[in-house]
Amino acid sequence: MTAQIINGNEIAKQIRQELKEEIAKLKEKHNLIPGLVTVLVGADPASQVYVGQKEKTSRDLGIYSERHDLPADTTQKKLLTLIDKLNKDPRIHGILVQLPLPKHLNESEVLYAINPKKDVDGFHPVNLGKLMIGEPDYLPCTPHGIQQLLIRSGVKIEGAEVVVVGRSNIVGKPIANILLQKKEGANATVTVCHTATRDISFHTRRADIIIVAAGRPKALTADMVKEGAVVIDVGVNQVGTTADGKRILVGDVDFDAVKEKAKAITPVPGGVGPMTITMLMLNTVRAAKLAAGLT
Ligand SMILES: NC(=O)c1ccc[n+]([C@@H]2O[C@H](COP(=O)([O-])OP(=O)(O)OC[C@H]3O[C@@H](n4cnc5c(N)ncnc54)[C@H](OP(=O)(O)O)[C@@H]3O)[C@@H](O)[C@H]2O)c1
Repeated sequence: MTAQIINGNEIAKQIRQELKEEIAKLKEKHNLIPGLVTVLVGADPASQVYVGQKEKTSRDLGIYSERHDLPADTTQKKLLTLIDKLNKDPRIHGILVQLPLPKHLNESEVLYAINPKKDVDGFHPVNLGKLMIGEPDYLPCTPHGIQQLLIRSGVKIEGAEVVVVGRSNIVGKPIANILLQKKEGANATVTVCHTATRDISFHTRRADIIIVAAGRPKALTADMVKEGAVVIDVGVNQVGTTADGKRILVGDVDFDAVKEKAKAITPVPGGVGPMTITMLMLNTVRAAKLAAGLT
């Protein structure tokens, strides 16, 4: 069997088109323009690229976009003061602080200072707690993107055996919680594996859907996958640079071998990656609608 390739670029494009239409209607009918602010501390090149992509996508969709670039030696107090100001700004519905922050800053304190109603990353404990009890305002972007990839590719999630490899707070734990809910596009039996799991293959080999977010190239090899499984590769690992200085990226899955056994698989790049920013835009639109009492 050669797997169907789940095209994250195409699915992200569809969702962006839907969002663009919704944003145009919000403006026309309610004079409501969703607003997203990005805050970047320091000049980490990868973070600058991510923030640039978020700004550009916002503008393309008709979202009001603001960017605050702060010097690397910004104090905790100054950053918290800015967040307080943005929390009170009615033009801003979503606040995104680009991580990682420089080492001298307390990341948790900064994230907890964001008004949960403007927490479009979905990382605030209030939003993670609401997700866990099945009443989310916002789903974290990468896990939400994974769920949409599955739904829009026609993968049956209800009743499926799902195995998640990785238990981070930004991917593993939230995707496990999302797919566990007794809801449409979820209702799966979920197992979460990590570095202390005794025999990961024992779990992955019986899975209908495997989601790998380990941050290790070839963490999932073909012998760990049952024939006909659906495989979602979240990993992004730099394994070198090209002659012209571009990063060479691979996922966590041994793609060439696993695609011969899987029913469907996401590539890296072009799988989960394009969904993350798209779901951030979706959360921003939702934040604007919540603020205006439109949901
Ligand atoms: N495409 C996107 O938009 C996107 C977004 C976020 C992350 N990512 C990528 O996804 C990957 C994971 O990110 P993350 O933030 O979740 O990583 P993380 O915080 O480093 O967590 C990795 C998790 O995987 C587990 N793990 C590591 N090696 C393992 C192995 N060999 N077998 C079983 N479990 C293993 C770790 O277990 P322990 O808890 O026991 O240490 C940990 O729970 C990274 O490559 C990251 O770049 C991509």
